Amino acid sequence: MSKPANKPGLTDITGSRTGPTLKAEARVSRFYERAPYPDLGAKPKNPSHWLDPVRRRLEITGGRAFHYLDAGCGTGHSVVGVALAQPDWQISAIDLSEPSLAIARALADKHSVSIDFHQGSYLDPLPFDGRFDLIGTFGSVHHTPDPPGAVRNLLAHLTADGLLVMHLYGRDLDRGKFVIREILDIVEPDLSAIDRRFALYRELVAHRRPSILKRFLDLSPRVALRAVRDAFYKARRRRVESWSPPWTDEYRHPTGPWIDHFCHPLENVYNVRDVQKLAEEAGLDVLEMLGQGRETLSRLPQGWRNDFAGMDYWDRARLMELLDVTARSVLVIGRRAPVH
Ligand SMILES: C[S@@+](CC[C@H](N)C(=O)[O-])C[C@H]1O[C@@H](n2cnc3c(N)ncnc32)[C@H](O)[C@@H]1O
Repeated sequence: MSKPANKPGLTDITGSRTGPTLKAEARVSRFYERAPYPDLGAKPKNPSHWLDPVRRRLEITGGRAFHYLDAGCGTGHSVVGVALAQPDWQISAIDLSEPSLAIARALADKHSVSIDFHQGSYLDPLPFDGRFDLIGTFGSVHHTPDPPGAVRNLLAHLTADGLLVMHLYGRDLDRGKFVIREILDIVEPDLSAIDRRFALYRELVAHRRPSILKRFLDLSPRVALRAVRDAFYKARRRRVESWSPPWTDEYRHPTGPWIDHFCHPLENVYNVRDVQKLAEEAGLDVLEMLGQGRETLSRLPQGWRNDFAGMDYWDRARLMELLDVTARSVLVIGRRAPVH
């Protein structure tokens, strides 16, 4: 599947991209050279939450190999999970960061799966021959300086009926993280000053946590009981420093997850309307939203069903998002929009 020569790297990209995009991307690349993500150890991620619904939509044609690409594979925990779940697929992966790819290659070896890894940017023409039946991109497009360009480029590398599955930060789910991030950006804007930013973060956490006893005495018995219950669950959860929400877990060391959450040079967040804009700009036909905007009719008052059925896709999805009391991230399945 891979082209043998002219693998684009950050330093030799020609193409039509302009200086600011390349510079922004170089910052992202340097960031992931320093802090490969997610570097979770030996255990791959289980992809079933998106792979099962994608599989139901795929027309797997017998007789020829099925080609899957992970765009922005990081340390490979997702793509190796896919390779284990689908040993019959031919799998490729691309990432900007060579240190991340080194971890991904070792993880693939450890699990004895074969993946064609490449270093490069999916904002450039991809270094692979042929097209993919499925492209997955998780937690990555929101870190590019040109998300519509990224999606457009990935769609161009799909087969005619190929699918794209994409995960993005959710505007509401990740609100707590971005509030702390913005506070740190104002007080210490230098993202490479990790120790100082971390010290500020710890001071903020300590400042927000006045004497537990004093706070407790101020509470009504009902609220106090709820606080005890919440503290219990939080303590259980905090045994592991989380790579995923809740981002506001209290970090005690500037570890990989903390650096990723609070010192990243380039992040975008999305609600359903943002995804709509991205899809329109990129020529993406969204078939299904599995996270934010997921169609769950039980959220609608019974009498609204007919009105709902008459709405366009994006109004329906936004309504679902607004009616959902639990914030989620974005996980969409889509394809190349038909040209009229
Ligand atoms: C947050 S990590 C996600 C890793 C993996 N997809 C996961 O979910 O476990 C984002 C990854 O996207 C990569 N990335 C960002 N922009 C990219 C681009 N334009 N081309 C290739 N990789 C990119 C980064 O190097 C980083 O490894």
